[in-house]
Amino acid sequence: MDVLEAITSRVSITSYRDTGVDRPKVARLLEAARWAPSAGNMQVSEYVIVEDEELLEKLSEYAHNQSHIREAPFALVILADIEKAERNYPERGELYALQETAAAMQNVLLEAHNQGLGAAWVGSFDEEQVGALLEVPERLRPVSIVTVGHPDEKPEQPHKYDITNITYQNKYGKRVHPMYEKVTWKGLRHYGKKLKKMMP
Ligand SMILES: Cc1cc2nc3c(=O)[nH]c(=O)nc-3n(C[C@H](O)[C@H](O)[C@H](O)COP(=O)(O)O)c2cc1C
Repeated sequence: MDVLEAITSRVSITSYRDTGVDRPKVARLLEAARWAPSAGNMQVSEYVIVEDEELLEKLSEYAHNQSHIREAPFALVILADIEKAERNYPERGELYALQETAAAMQNVLLEAHNQGLGAAWVGSFDEEQVGALLEVPERLRPVSIVTVGHPDEKPEQPHKYDITNITYQNKYGKRVHPMYEKVTWKGLRHYGKKLKKMMP
């Protein structure tokens, strides 16, 4: 699947069929995650695959009872080694670590979509409770959870802001040319060079 097509057709899936996900498919998600960009290539992200039903039940409870966590065949908890990041970058280390985990998360969501799986990012949970449940060492911060399974729903795509609503040219306030949103991404790729010449 073309990367941009994957990005623009992915949606969060929170309803899953009652079947497990084969290990090789899970391995591909982790493969996608570990190739995420990393500040200074520190690679501060680590992962816990949670398949145990009792643990999933608890995870769900610690995430404000979000039911898709207990209903998913598994959840991946992504941890960031904040201490390591701050040793390398005392000022911006924590930010870099969180950015790295976010990039890894997006890779997981896209690879899940690529494999026909459904996934949802879960950021709303009690970090201390999740850390204690999974016996995560102090130095690691549980940053995000992603639930994964075979989709049992086809949600509408949510609305996303148009390029021209959120993009400026050179300085904040000068909106990009309206042509930017008149073409689809396919068109942009095709007419990219011509458009570039037309832009003020
Ligand atoms: C940082 C972050 C935290 C999120 N936390 C949750 C969450 O706790 N539960 C949930 O169901 N979705 C969560 N989401 C998913 C968003 O709700 C979802 O991406 C958004 O509604 C847009 O839908 P889409 O993913 O289909 O484009 C989170 C997404 C991000 C980036």
